[in-house]
This record gives sequence, C-alpha cells and structure tokens, in this order.
Amino acid sequence: MSVEQTTDKNKPTILVGIIMGSDSDLPVMQAAADILKQLEVPFELTVVSAHRTPLRMVEYASKAKERGLKLIIAGAGGAAHLPGMIASITSLPVIGVPIKSSNSIDGWDSILSILQMPNGIPVATVALNAAKNAGILAASIIGAFDTSVGERVVEYKKSLEADVLKRIAKLKKDGWENGFD
Ligand code: RP5
Repeated sequence: MSVEQTTDKNKPTILVGIIMGSDSDLPVMQAAADILKQLEVPFELTVVSAHRTPLRMVEYASKAKERGLKLIIAGAGGAAHLPGMIASITSLPVIGVPIKSSNSIDGWDSILSILQMPNGIPVATVALNAAKNAGILAASIIGAFDTSVGERVVEYKKSLEADVLKRIAKLKKDGWENGFD
C-alpha cells in the first residue's frame, strides 16, 4: 500500500490532500501548504505523478474520499494531466495549480492542460503558480461547512483589507513620489 494512511488517533483528520507531479514542484506548491497551515486546515502533502506513477495516482484518487479528504489540490507542470486525471477518478472537488516547470514551454501548456477539461469533469483551475490561491480556495470551500475554518477565512480576508487601507493611508501621508517600502 503506497498511499499514506492516517493511523494516529490524536492527529486531526486530514481534510485536504496537496499532491504534485514532482518534488521539483514543491517550491511553488509550498505556498498552498503555508496558507493552509496558517488557516489551521489539516492537510497532507506528497508527490503523485500521472505519467510516472499512474497506479499510485489511481490508488490515491480512488481512496481519497474514504480516507476522509474533502478536497484535493493538484499541481503539475508541462503536460499537466495530474489534476484532470485525479478529477476523473474521485468525486471530491479538485483544484488544479498549473506550474511553469522545467519542461514547460511558457506555462500556457500547463494552464491549458489543466483548464480545458471536458464537460462533466471539472477542475477548479487557479492562475499560473498560484498555489496560495489554491490553498485559500480550499479553505473557503471547507469553511462553507466548517464554521471555525470559515471564520479564519473571514479574518484572513479582513487582514487583506486592513493591509490595503494601511497602504492607502501611507500613500496619502507620504505622497506617491517616495513609493512604498
Ligand atoms: C511534471 O513534470 C511535474 O509536475 C513537473 O512540473 C515537471 C517536471 O518534473 P521533473 O522532471 O522535475 O521531475 O510532470
């Protein structure tokens, strides 16, 4: 059995699976893990390659729901088939992160591979390398039925507003000529 199992009863139930086609995707996908950690959404992170470990991909996707996951974030670059193939196997929502990788032409290859899914098998595709947004979207979806996660998402969005208002006040005070710190 190659797919991770949660056996420790003291650990919170893992709600989000973050998977990526290669460990070379980690510098991008790390941002999804960071924001989920900040928002206190339990997650796991591992490598699942659609092309190089197809059987692991089928196993991961087919067991995700029974393992308690509510959502999968899948990142891949180049011929980025992982999110779509995962979505074709599981009924869980899948968020796709297109990655500009070493085998990408310019990133559009990854975007279109993830975005242009056939009718019936949607993948919620975020912008190129936008793993942070994938994490926020995952927390928003979980937060729609988990009140405490939902409240943390609200607080996070309020912090974004507060940050912009602070910048507006600084711009007003210091003028535009000096730019921002
Ligand atoms: C894709 O190929 C992976 O998702 C990664 O973005 C890209 C390159 O993988 P490596 O050759 O670095 O393992 O399948």
